[in-house]
Amino acid sequence: MKIGILGGGQLGRMLLQAGINYVVDTYVLENDEHCPAAHLCHHFIKGNIQDFESVYNFGKHLDAITIEIESVNVDALEKLESEGVRVYPSSAALRIIKNKVTQKQFYQQNQIPTSEFVITNSLEELKNKINFLPAVHKLGEGGYDGKGVQLIKDEQDIESGFSQTSVLEKMILIQKEIAVIVAVNEKGEFAVYPPAEMVFDARYNLLDYQISPAIISKEVFWKIEAIAIKVVKELKSAGIFAVELFVDKKNDILVNEIAPRVHNSGHHSIEGNYSSQFDMLWRILLQLPLGNTAPILPSAIVNIVGEDGHVGKAVYEGLDEVLKMNNAFVHLYGKTHTKPGRKMGHVTILANEYSELSHKAHKIKNVLKVVSYQ
Ligand SMILES: Nc1ncnc2c1ncn2[C@@H]1O[C@H](COP(=O)(O)OP(=O)(O)O)[C@@H](O)[C@H]1O
Ligand SMILES: [Mg+2]
Repeated sequence: MKIGILGGGQLGRMLLQAGINYVVDTYVLENDEHCPAAHLCHHFIKGNIQDFESVYNFGKHLDAITIEIESVNVDALEKLESEGVRVYPSSAALRIIKNKVTQKQFYQQNQIPTSEFVITNSLEELKNKINFLPAVHKLGEGGYDGKGVQLIKDEQDIESGFSQTSVLEKMILIQKEIAVIVAVNEKGEFAVYPPAEMVFDARYNLLDYQISPAIISKEVFWKIEAIAIKVVKELKSAGIFAVELFVDKKNDILVNEIAPRVHNSGHHSIEGNYSSQFDMLWRILLQLPLGNTAPILPSAIVNIVGEDGHVGKAVYEGLDEVLKMNNAFVHLYGKTHTKPGRKMGHVTILANEYSELSHKAHKIKNVLKVVSYQ
C-alpha cells in the first residue's frame, strides 16, 4: 500500500521507524527537506501541508493518509476522502479538533465532562469576563507547545489574553494530568493504552516527565477509560487519538483536549508496551489486526529540550552517562539546531519500581543538556 504522512517532524520520524516492519511504500509531505522524517520515507515531497493543491496532489494516488500535526488543509483531506482515499483521522474529526472552540462545543454537545467555558473574540470581550476568573485563555487555532495558552488569574492578567477567537475556561484545581491513547480501526474496534500521568515544566508548558501506567485508584482508572472511549467513539473516525484529561481535587474527571494523532504522551509505548502507538497506527492504516496495548514494564519519559540561553548548532552533553544507564532508551530527533525549550528528543526508562523510574528520570534531567557553542 501507498501511505502518506502530512508533516515530517519527530512524530513522522518515529512513525516511519515503526513502518519498516511492514510492507508499505511511504510518502511524506513537508516544506523543509531537512526535517526529521525526510530521509526515512520512500518518497519525500516538498510542499506546504496547509495548501489545498499541495495536499490534494500529494494524496490523490495514495491508499491512505495520516497526519503528524493538526495544522493541515482539511478541505483537501475531505476531497480525498470523497474520492476514496482513506483519511485517518477523518476530515470531520480533524475539523472538530483543530479548533479549540469547536472542540469544546463538541464536548458540550456530547455530554463529555469538561471545564466550563465561554468564547471570546477580542480583548474587549475578554475584559467583560472578569467574573469568570480565574481562568485559562486558549487560542482557537494556531497555538502549539503551550504558546496559545495564557493563565488569567485576575484583572491584571487580562492584557496578556488573546484578541483573536479563543476559549476562556475555568481554571481547574488539578490533582493529576492524565493522557490516554486510544486506537480505533475502520471496523470501529478499539484498543486503549493504560493511562499515563504527566508532570509539566512551568516555564515552557512542555511535558516535563511522565510515568505510565498512572498511579491512580481503580475507580479513577475506570472513569478515565470510560470517558476516553466515549470521546473517541463520538468522533466516529479511525486513527490514533490522545485524550488529555484532568483529575481535579475532588476526583472528578474532565477532558482537557484531544490530539487526533500519535502523541508525545505515548512515546514510552515504543519500549514500554507490546505494540507501540506507532506500530498501532500502521496496523490501522494497513487494515491489519490491532496490537496489544499492555505494558511490558512500568515506564517513564523524560523530554530532552533545548537549554535556556542556547541557540544554534546542538551539542548533547551528558549523553554517555545516560547511555550507560540500564533500561534507558535514548531517542534523538535529528534536529541540528537547538533553542530554549525546543523538543530535541526523549529518553524512555523502564523499571519494575516507580521509585526507580523517578530516580532515573531526575538523574537524566540533571545530566543531559542540549546546549550550543555555535
Ligand atoms: N482549565 C484549566 N485549568 C487549569 N490548568 C489548565 C487548564 N487548561 C489547561 N491547563 C494547563 O495548561 C496546559 C496546556 O493546555 P492545553 O489546553 O493542553 O494546551 P496545549 O495545546 O498547549 O497542550 C495543560 O496541560 C494544563 O497544565
Ligand atoms: Mg495539551
